[in-house]
Amino acid sequence: MFEPAIMVENLTKRFGKITAVDDLSLEIGWGELFGLLGPNGAGKTTVINILSTLLQPTNGVATIASHDVVYDADAIRRIIGVCPQEPAFYKHLTGRENIELFGDLHEVPQNVLNERIETMLKKIGLKEDADRRAGQYSGGMIRRVSTVMSLINNPKVALLDEPTVAMDPVSRRAVWDFIKELKNNGMAIILTTHYMEEAEELCDRVGIVDEGKLIALGTPEELMEEHSAKNLEEVFIKLTGKKLREAV
Ligand SMILES: Nc1ncnc2c1ncn2[C@@H]1O[C@H](COP(=O)(O)OP(=O)(O)O)[C@@H](O)[C@H]1O
Ligand SMILES: [Mg+2]
Repeated sequence: MFEPAIMVENLTKRFGKITAVDDLSLEIGWGELFGLLGPNGAGKTTVINILSTLLQPTNGVATIASHDVVYDADAIRRIIGVCPQEPAFYKHLTGRENIELFGDLHEVPQNVLNERIETMLKKIGLKEDADRRAGQYSGGMIRRVSTVMSLINNPKVALLDEPTVAMDPVSRRAVWDFIKELKNNGMAIILTTHYMEEAEELCDRVGIVDEGKLIALGTPEELMEEHSAKNLEEVFIKLTGKKLREAV
């Protein structure tokens, strides 16, 4: 039977009078890299937090590998990896020690853990700085550590909330290549970003959200063709009548 990796149906989340997520429906397949795009305040993090079982929806349903985010939260936590928008780490530990600690919490066997850390640090361009205290890291370095932490348990589904914010172009490229490889190994990935060019380059399909509503869904090519736009930024402008920066 066809089982989507992630299924979101009529999902709504209200905070008092604010509707952060408004009747959102999506399906994401295994091995798919899905970009959730939109300006600040569009509702991206709220969707990630619901899928990570940190927040409960006001209405609607969301499942990961057929587990309900509200009723099967424990099962979901075992199969997801989350890179939160605000990375959590210990400043007085090194990048490597932070990752090791997280791997231990997930009970990754020691030999597997060491090998995985070496491989991932190298791929993400952090090997040289891995033994410096995390408190000295730049925002981009912290995010790279956080990305490795989120994937240390080899999750089936990765939820990456703005993983490339504050990154220089070289680091961003390294993270992109790293994410592409995960996808090729069958992982389902949601990546949120407000960098439209990132989504264009990286994602199999994208969903553009604005004010909690899904306003476009498809491959970057389909959306550009449908709206006679030369890039996704232009698609957004055509759909909303506003520039991405004004929408913030
Ligand atoms: N805990 C909260 N309490 C009240 N409002 C919130 C809370 N979390 C998010 N919001 C509001 O919900 C909307 C969507 O926020 P968010 O999901 O963080 O958007 P994004 O990640 O796309 O920038 C915003 O208007 C934000 O202010
Ligand atoms: Mg956010």
